[in-house]
Amino acid sequence: MRIALDLNGAQVEADVEPSVSLADLLRTKLGALSVHLGCEQGVCGACAVLVDGRTVRSCLMLAVQGDGRSVTTAEGVPRRRRGEWAAIESAFVELNAFQCGFCTSGMVVALEELLSREAVTRSEVAAQLSGQICRCTGYAPIVEAFERALASSGRLCDGDET
Ligand code: FES
Ligand code: FES
Repeated sequence: MRIALDLNGAQVEADVEPSVSLADLLRTKLGALSVHLGCEQGVCGACAVLVDGRTVRSCLMLAVQGDGRSVTTAEGVPRRRRGEWAAIESAFVELNAFQCGFCTSGMVVALEELLSREAVTRSEVAAQLSGQICRCTGYAPIVEAFERALASSGRLCDGDET
């Protein structure tokens, strides 16, 4: 099948077999190497991408289901965030929110979904991270980095209601 999608702001086309996952298409044909494959069964979140603004596990989605959709990988997040990206990157670096880095692109994608909202609570940060596994950090630095990034852009709010 010939499909077309918006990948990180650019229109791309590809020929795909019906059984190919979106993750495999992104990595092998479209050069999005930030999409990491860990469990390949929807558990670890390493393959997370945004599809039409919502975080999805690209190992569980067929490439053909991406036809006509907008897909954002971690490569596209700095472009979407523009002036905010330096503060986000600093939060991850200064708070040691990654070690081996395998989970980091999925984390950045999960954070991008939150940054697209007007207001985010700490419990929503926790809920978003519940789908992302990190084997190295123990999560506390990642939670802190998320909260600092959201606070620096004025989106973190104290209550549980947004
Ligand atoms: S590789 Fe997709 S969720 Fe783990
Ligand atoms: S930094 Fe190694 S898995 Fe998260």
